[in-house]
Amino acid sequence: MADTLSITDNRTGETYEVPIEDDTIKSMDLRQIKVNDDDFGMMAYDPAFLNTASCRSSITYIDGEAGILQHRGYTIEDLCAKSSYLEVAYLLVFGELPTEPQLERWVYDVTHHTFVHEDMRSLYRGFRHDAHPMGILLAGVGAMSTFYPHAKEIDDPEERYMAAIRMIAKMPTLAAFSYRHSLGLPYVYPDNDLSYAGNFLGMMRKMTEVKYEPDPRLEKALDVLFILHADHEQNCSTAAVRSVGSSRVDPYSAVAAGVAALYGPLHGGANEAVLKMLRRIESVDNIPGFLEGVKNGDEKLMGFGHRVYKNYDPRARIVKKHVDEVLEIVGANPLLDIATELEKRAMDDEYFTSRKLYPNVDYYSGLIYEALGIPSEMFTVIFAIPRTAGWIAQWMEMNGDSAQKIARPRQIYTGDRDLEYVPIADRTGPEKITGPPARRPVKARRGA
Ligand code: ACO
Repeated sequence: MADTLSITDNRTGETYEVPIEDDTIKSMDLRQIKVNDDDFGMMAYDPAFLNTASCRSSITYIDGEAGILQHRGYTIEDLCAKSSYLEVAYLLVFGELPTEPQLERWVYDVTHHTFVHEDMRSLYRGFRHDAHPMGILLAGVGAMSTFYPHAKEIDDPEERYMAAIRMIAKMPTLAAFSYRHSLGLPYVYPDNDLSYAGNFLGMMRKMTEVKYEPDPRLEKALDVLFILHADHEQNCSTAAVRSVGSSRVDPYSAVAAGVAALYGPLHGGANEAVLKMLRRIESVDNIPGFLEGVKNGDEKLMGFGHRVYKNYDPRARIVKKHVDEVLEIVGANPLLDIATELEKRAMDDEYFTSRKLYPNVDYYSGLIYEALGIPSEMFTVIFAIPRTAGWIAQWMEMNGDSAQKIARPRQIYTGDRDLEYVPIADRTGPEKITGPPARRPVKARRGA
């Protein structure tokens, strides 16, 4: 049997043979389907890319139906149990697990690039004390391109390596500075004696002690969370990094686009939204009422559902195990009871099962962050730290892929055409002036 798709255009009676490769047809092969010679040709319409592959990639494999996640061929379960986050970052970026000397060099390079330029502090000082740390991080990452202008030489392997090292190394520093800024606390500089996760905890939490000593169990839990968030193929923020990077802008600017995409509540902002939701539910008794609201479409069960996973998100399973461990160390959290019961009831409910809505990675991760004493505004920021490795790996892969060009989708134009221009004095319209809705009274803000 031929690996082709036969398409008959019933408008013309013409039949076309379109090659199938990897269970996929090329959208450009549809362009030959025309009604007449003046016709532009057929396009594929796919808002939100529900069924469009935009690249070939060998970084991350997901089987959403079976709940499988693998990076470069290794299962997420193995990587979480046997690797460190920096080892996984190396795997994503270079395609192979590092040898001992390779890992030693990688860890050394990352550890010795954790400091940010002192002028970055001036940038941070410009933010209001109550600025969201993700907004601050977004600005900080974008600003990094101005500190390393040679990064725009994206075909130079040395520049690419340095950009990868700098971004992976400095993201925790920028993230922790964002947090300290929002509390009005002095910034804590990196400590090269600590691990990647331990150093981040130190920069967040260190106060007057001479040396910050992270609890190794909490350090491990954070490192596992970093591994779980390191990459997830063509999600919204990765697609943003690839799309912006396809213009051949420097990698800091491309990654800043990823940070912006991750900020949204339907993506990286979900774990913050989960905690807000659990707090709003307040007690197990209110769960039935809340679920009714979800089913009526009044709200969403945050941390549930995924574009790709139509099964239990394998990352959620691993996070869930660590929640119990962490809470054993730091003490119980009543929100866990609400989360557990809410999951149970949702999993017994036809609304969720028929739509294949299961907990995703964000459902439980917020509870660990909270147990680590990290406020909810920081959750998305912490997501950005490990995802940086994935963004960089995807950006590098895109730059080495000769099939890629500047990302430029098509559209189906639905507006008017060829209207006669009407001078302003002759224009008529509704009496009521259209404009923004009336403003609600602005609440006085602290520190305004
Ligand atoms: N709560 C209630 N209903 C839901 C939810 C939810 N969390 N998620 C999806 N649905 C419903 C939709 O209303 C829709 O119902 P319908 O068929 O009756 O219209 C159906 O399930 C299909 O959902 P879609 O919105 O079409 O799924 P999509 O793939 O577009 O969205 C998304 C995926 C954005 C993750 C969605 O499930 C969602 O908003 N979840 C909550 C936010 C969240 O947890 N995001 C984190 C994702 S993981 C990550 O980014 C790291």
